[in-house]
Amino acid sequence: MFDFSYYTPTKVVFGRGTENQAGELIRQFGGSRVLIHYGGESAVRSGLLDRVKASLDAAGLPYAVLGGVVPNPHLGKVREGIALAKEHGVDFLLAVGGGSVIDSAKAIAYALAEPEYDVWELFAHTRKAKACLPVASVLTIAAAGSEMSPSCVITNEKTGEKRAYDDDLSRPKFAIMNPELTMTLPDYQTESGCTDIMMHTMERYFTQGGNMELTDELAEGLLRTVMKYAEILHTDPRNYEARAEIMWAGSLAHNGLTGCGNDGGDFATHMLEHELGGMFDVTHGAGLAALWPSWARYVMDNDLPRFVRYAEKVMGVVRTEDMSDRDVALEGVARMEDFYHRIGMPVNLHELGIEPTEEQIRALAESCVRATGGHQGSARVLYGEDMANIYRMAR
Ligand code: NZQ
Ligand code: ZN
Repeated sequence: MFDFSYYTPTKVVFGRGTENQAGELIRQFGGSRVLIHYGGESAVRSGLLDRVKASLDAAGLPYAVLGGVVPNPHLGKVREGIALAKEHGVDFLLAVGGGSVIDSAKAIAYALAEPEYDVWELFAHTRKAKACLPVASVLTIAAAGSEMSPSCVITNEKTGEKRAYDDDLSRPKFAIMNPELTMTLPDYQTESGCTDIMMHTMERYFTQGGNMELTDELAEGLLRTVMKYAEILHTDPRNYEARAEIMWAGSLAHNGLTGCGNDGGDFATHMLEHELGGMFDVTHGAGLAALWPSWARYVMDNDLPRFVRYAEKVMGVVRTEDMSDRDVALEGVARMEDFYHRIGMPVNLHELGIEPTEEQIRALAESCVRATGGHQGSARVLYGEDMANIYRMAR
């Protein structure tokens, strides 16, 4: 077991109707002028935005409103938010939406706290932030885990670069989680979210060491729970218990809990997917599903005991006498693919709906090398050629 620090400063307010507490909570955390940030039309159509505004009105909080955040959120929208927030003297960011809206709000919050710098420098990793305004969310999709995470992922739509910046400064002050709000999600988004949640835990699970029994058991329980309820939601999207289980799993999968005592995580599948998001604008969770089986087969010999444990404890593989460790591990990956198919997720790039050329694969791998500073991974350390090989295997 490795040493670790675990920091989760986010207050979670979970349950039906909790969005009506938004104003009161902002007051508690010292906000006095708010930017309400949201995405497309889902929060408007459902009436959620109006309820949130009413809650801020009741708390006597002035606010500006900015919608239009797209999935794989754009730097251009962040810049629009910075200008609007400056004009209104905003000191608190409230995201009403999913990972894309929360990340856009985090980026605006960084920029407002240090207005003398260009915010993209953080994502280009030429500078570290020293401050960030407070951010909070009313979550509408269980997926990215940004409601409790230190991560912020922004796409520079002019260059096609999708880049992450991680810093505890941006961990949100509070997260309002009403599982009912997720009932209007299209099935593809629900299941992409479930896939992302599982991946956040699997990235931390498939490492080369420092694994801790308690953390492993938490991770395996989380993964089995998400698989169970992801299948239920595929046929019964209005099931409250299932929505609630998935929503809470989404936060615990990415707030650091399932990384305690291990070596920090692999995250190669995530880095490979971010490049797909930047070039092809795919849905993040579906992109992860399309890459993971190829990644798993590529790296498994370097981390076989973990893959065997995963196959047995998460995928329910029962070893027969004729099976080698590798057979067990491969059966675990095959069962994962079956699961993805059962919830309507792709298991390769073709099923994801993209057909990258050899030239594009080289470009994806080169960009991933730049984004990772040369290499990525713990289960197996991947270099540029490995990254290209995984994209090729996933075709
Ligand atoms: O914009 P609207 O109309 O709201 O539609 C959204 C969007 O099209 C829709 N949606 C959200 N809630 C809804 C709803 N539709 C109906 N009813 C609702 N209640 O869902 C679509 C996807 O929304 P998005 O916010 O993009 O989803 P997600 O939470 O999966 O976020 C994805 C982004 O987060 C990044 C991803 O790379 C991607 O850019 N990530 C952020 C992380 C973080 N900050 O910690 C970690 C992740 O690994 C991830 O990289
Ligand atoms: Zn993710």
